[in-house]
Amino acid sequence: MATSTTKKTTTKTTAAKTTEPAAEKKVTKTVTVKQEDKKKILFVASEATPFIQTGGLAEVIGSLSTALAKTGKFDVRVVIPLYSDIKKEFRDKFTYLGNLYVHLAWRNQYCGVFSYEKEGVIFYFIDNEFYFKRPGCYGYFDDGERFAFFSRAVLEIMPFLNFYPEVMHCHDWQAALAAIYLKTNYCFRQEYQFIRSLFTIHNIEYQGQYSLDILSSLFDIYGKYQYLVEYNNSINLMKGAIEVSERFSTVSPKYADEIKDAYFAHGLDPIIRNNQFKLRGILNGIDDKGYNCELDSHLFKNFTPDDMSGKAVCKQELQKMLDLPQKPDTPIISMISRLVSHKGLDLVTNVIEEVLQDDVQLVILGTGDYQYESYFRDLARRYPDKVSANIVFNGDLSRKIYSGSDIFLMPSKSEPCGLSQMIACRYATVPIVRETGGLYDSIKPLENGYTFANYNAHDMLYVIRKAVEDYKNKKEWAKLRYRAAMSDFSWNKSAKEYEALYLEMLK
Ligand code: GLC
Repeated sequence: MATSTTKKTTTKTTAAKTTEPAAEKKVTKTVTVKQEDKKKILFVASEATPFIQTGGLAEVIGSLSTALAKTGKFDVRVVIPLYSDIKKEFRDKFTYLGNLYVHLAWRNQYCGVFSYEKEGVIFYFIDNEFYFKRPGCYGYFDDGERFAFFSRAVLEIMPFLNFYPEVMHCHDWQAALAAIYLKTNYCFRQEYQFIRSLFTIHNIEYQGQYSLDILSSLFDIYGKYQYLVEYNNSINLMKGAIEVSERFSTVSPKYADEIKDAYFAHGLDPIIRNNQFKLRGILNGIDDKGYNCELDSHLFKNFTPDDMSGKAVCKQELQKMLDLPQKPDTPIISMISRLVSHKGLDLVTNVIEEVLQDDVQLVILGTGDYQYESYFRDLARRYPDKVSANIVFNGDLSRKIYSGSDIFLMPSKSEPCGLSQMIACRYATVPIVRETGGLYDSIKPLENGYTFANYNAHDMLYVIRKAVEDYKNKKEWAKLRYRAAMSDFSWNKSAKEYEALYLEMLK
């Protein structure tokens, strides 16, 4: 008979204070499954909120793991490296579990293990100062070796923790080797033989490509397994993980379809097509408590979908803060993005001056390629009354911009899922997106935003002009932004899809 699970309430972290307000409207159904009957899931990833984040991956790891644990059916644990950038306020709360030594080819490296429980999810942190005591997460000459060590450590800590997952869910190339080692070295051992692996692609652009010369000396992969990871005369870790995993997935149904095509696949399309029988596309959700216009303390004034008076204050204060004329009836178009070309910035630079002929204001937030950073700085200098370019990464300002704008522009050339268009909706800001990847799956024309199909600057211009025109019709605009704000981007639906996928894998 089922007994009830003990649910711990976590009020420890500062992040929890800002992102998990006490008052919750929706109550997530928790079924009662005995602890020992819960399916054991281990997420392997290179970043996770609230501890360390460079992009959307971290949010998905943090919020999907929590959503799965909340169903009450899974024992969910997450393992990431212990980077020195993880703030002291978190580290101070971690529990040191012990250490072991991890073998990798001729190396034998120290591996400390720390843990921390948050909202029903146990996080493990792999400590090795030689690999992870450096600023940032990536971009080092030895990233291949760092994540090989991390992946090997993931398998080595299982006996140490006495935790063998039923599904090891690996995310992006940094975790690909965990799936590969499972199949090449570990699954022959009794305790490991029932572990299934799921590999999720968050971005196919980064595949972990290395010279074949270091296959055994660095990655410790025997020659007989070379065929698994070899691709175009190199080692390709993402390719290897796709080959060896029972299933692989990506973060929206549309992107799952797109990556079968050479235009999107960065060279991996033949591999995706060969393995498409085990490919799934599951749209990401967002942490809908963390992004909540009613409770977010970063906003100038809170509001609700039913009473948007506070949104007008958010807009006015934003204009004041950014030195733009305080005009309540001039639509603010915003972009919060890495300033890199696949975000569609070449479309923007092509036609934005035509957009600026209309009565609009443009707010940019983000950092990236020098070419785009200087373009927007220069644009702001030339249109001081219309353009505000904020070439920084600033979480507080991002929420002020999401809530204070009217229109959110996201014309990506490719977008596996994208979170910003969903966040904009949560703050009743109407997105304009290009129909690609998760943008296509989350934004529906006239229902909760505007879309355009072809990667073409004038198609985008046409839709922006349409939105700016529609904005003048106050009554209709109010309805549209209400629908945007009411779009359901919670994890409920997607967590169910992962649940079904795990169960299918365990059959
Ligand atoms: C990557 C993708 C982005 C996606 C995120 C989380 O950053 O580029 O589209 O939303 O991963 O899956």
